[in-house]
This record gives sequence, C-alpha cells and structure tokens, in this order.
Amino acid sequence: MFQSPLSASICKRAIDQKLVEVKIHNIRDYTHNKHHTVDDYPYGGGAGMVLKPEPIFEAVEAIGADISHQQEIDGRTVILLTPQGRPFSQQIALELSRYSHLILICGHYEGVDERVREHLVTDEVSIGDYVLSGGELAAMVLLDAVVRLVPGVLGSAASPIDDSHATGLLEYPQYTRPPVYREWAVPEVLLSGNHAQIAKWHHEQAIARTRERRPELLEKANLNLREK
Ligand code: 6GU
Repeated sequence: MFQSPLSASICKRAIDQKLVEVKIHNIRDYTHNKHHTVDDYPYGGGAGMVLKPEPIFEAVEAIGADISHQQEIDGRTVILLTPQGRPFSQQIALELSRYSHLILICGHYEGVDERVREHLVTDEVSIGDYVLSGGELAAMVLLDAVVRLVPGVLGSAASPIDDSHATGLLEYPQYTRPPVYREWAVPEVLLSGNHAQIAKWHHEQAIARTRERRPELLEKANLNLREK
C-alpha cells in the first residue's frame, strides 16, 4: 500500500535526495506465535476485532531504540491515526514537520487496545470526519502534507507559504497561457506586468474565494480593517 505513493512526485524526490527517510514496519513481525496474530476479540463483546497491545508496543519500542541516539521519543512523536484523533490541519502539518522523527501507527480493524492510547501514543490524528477501513491512507496523507514542508523539499520556486490554508485563506484563482481560450480571457490585471496591482488582486481574490466557499475560515484569518 505504501510503495506507490512514496515512489512518485514530491515524496519520491524528498526520499531520493535524502531529505526524509520513510521506513515501513509490519507489526506482524513483532508477534511471537505461529499465526502472527495481531488482533483478538474485544472484552465485553461487540462487533469486530481489536488490535492487541503487545505487537504495537514491541514494534514502537524497537523503532524507538533505533532512533533514540538522535532523539528521545518525547513530545508528540508517536502518532496514532484514528477517526477519534484531533482533526489534521496545515497547522498540525507544520508542527510535525519540525520533528526529526515521527512514528505513525496505523489503526485497523475495529479498534486498538486502549492501553496503546494511554501508555504509548502521544498524539492521535484524524484526517477528516469519515471512516476509512484502515489508518494506512491517513498516514500517507499526513506524510505527504508534512514531507512537502520539510526545508529543501520544495525548492524555492514552489514555496508552500502561499498554499491554500497556509495563509488561513484559500488560494486565489490561477491562469496560464493561452491568454484567451474559447473566448474566455485571463483577467486583464494578470497580463499588466504591474506587480503591486497583481499582488493586490491575488489577495482580494483569496479573501473573496474564502468568503464564498469557507466563510468560517475568515474568522480565524489575519485581516486588517480594509480587508474586512
Ligand atoms: Cl486517521 N483512520 C481511519 N481509519 N479513518 C479515518 C481517519 C483515520 N481519519 C479519518 N477517517
């Protein structure tokens, strides 16, 4: 599941350039019985299976021992991907991009033994209010958002500072050539070469678009009196 997203685009380049390293671990490798059992029936009954604590603790402890010469497992570095976590955002991506190591645990099946949450995990993250069958896709979403913020990954030409959400506003509309396509012209100001006018237009458009589509974001955006 992880191979393909990691071997394309920005993530691939970041890995090739050794700006980030991604290691995939299978918790089945940390089991001690013949069937490599990682889940079991929930105490008290109920539907579905629950991930057992031992393989997860042992996997994280083995990984942690491996990286502890560079950074203790402290702060928010052991992250459980779960629909019950705090809602992922650009702000959280930025926070996480400052850690030298992150350990991501993909929840699966119907749940994870609560002792993993209580005694191993330091942060729980959800990527939105919908249910995925496993945390793997969520881990890759988080990874992609964080990797592109690691210094050097995006080069200076494609700075992340203007991205939708980075500013608290949605991004302004973009155009490229041709100047007229099927009689639909690119806004005049963008062809003017007047950089001050263009910057003003971009900012106004970002505000207008945010007001139209995500008005709740405007309340948190840093706007001056004129912009308001
Ligand atoms: Cl992190 N995991 C799963 N299984 N479903 C989700 C999610 C995570 N975030 C949103 N839905």
